[in-house]
Amino acid sequence: MIVAGSQSQILASRIAKKSSEKLACVEYERFPDGELLVSVPEIQKAKRSIIVASTTTERSWIELLQLIDICSETSHVDLVIPYMGYSRQDKKFEPGQPISARALITAIDGVDSVTTINIHESSVLDWFDCSTQNLDASSVLTPFFDVDSPIVLSPDKGAIDLAQNVASSIGGDSDFLEKERISGDKVEITPKNLGIKDQDVIVVDDMISTGGTMTEAIEMLKKQGPSSVSVGCIHPVFAENAVLRLFSTDIEKIVTTDTIETTLSKATVSQVITNSVVE
Ligand code: R5P
Repeated sequence: MIVAGSQSQILASRIAKKSSEKLACVEYERFPDGELLVSVPEIQKAKRSIIVASTTTERSWIELLQLIDICSETSHVDLVIPYMGYSRQDKKFEPGQPISARALITAIDGVDSVTTINIHESSVLDWFDCSTQNLDASSVLTPFFDVDSPIVLSPDKGAIDLAQNVASSIGGDSDFLEKERISGDKVEITPKNLGIKDQDVIVVDDMISTGGTMTEAIEMLKKQGPSSVSVGCIHPVFAENAVLRLFSTDIEKIVTTDTIETTLSKATVSQVITNSVVE
């Protein structure tokens, strides 16, 4: 049985449609004091449960812990967290800070496997006490870029693999930029001469949050006279005015997936998850 978190209802439905697993109807109630109560009445009929829940908000983490507890009455629980919120706080950046990713992961108990998609830092998976896998969904982005022999760039070293994977499946070259983060929504990209005049360029990153990284990268690239600049990311976090910041740079298109369900999430990771987790 596929059990969806509220932030992954479309993705979970797509996975159910591609497989023979039934999609459970999850119900939500609030107690008078504001506490959340999640229930899945049909769970009694299930032998195996596959929870699909992106944790984009505090509420979705609470939901997830309740769903895991509900599903623990089935004999096997596979947990898919397509986008794991708080995974970027994977260390103490300043004294006195928490390691939020570790705090949340160690609250998860009683699942047989955990699957993530292009998680920001895969070493956080070591904090789970079950088998884990981090799937690469770059292949689902590529059909949406209708350009020949583009140069595919990552805006920082962290997304080099993603750029290489997209480049090799489209048939183009890849390169990376150097980024320094100045604040939560401000970054500096070191100018780099890439020889991209009259070339199609695709910039890919694991996630777009405030859009600061992408807009800085695009502005630097546009000065070099490319014939087009398109953008791709796996996780469209799109905090605050990120979409406006991106489109105001006059990009060709944005391609992104349904690990976070937005109106721009045209690519789906459902087949990637179905192949590796459900079947
Ligand atoms: C950071 O290393 C990530 O790969 C992204 O580049 C970053 O999270 C994007 O954040 P923003 O859109 O706020 O610049």
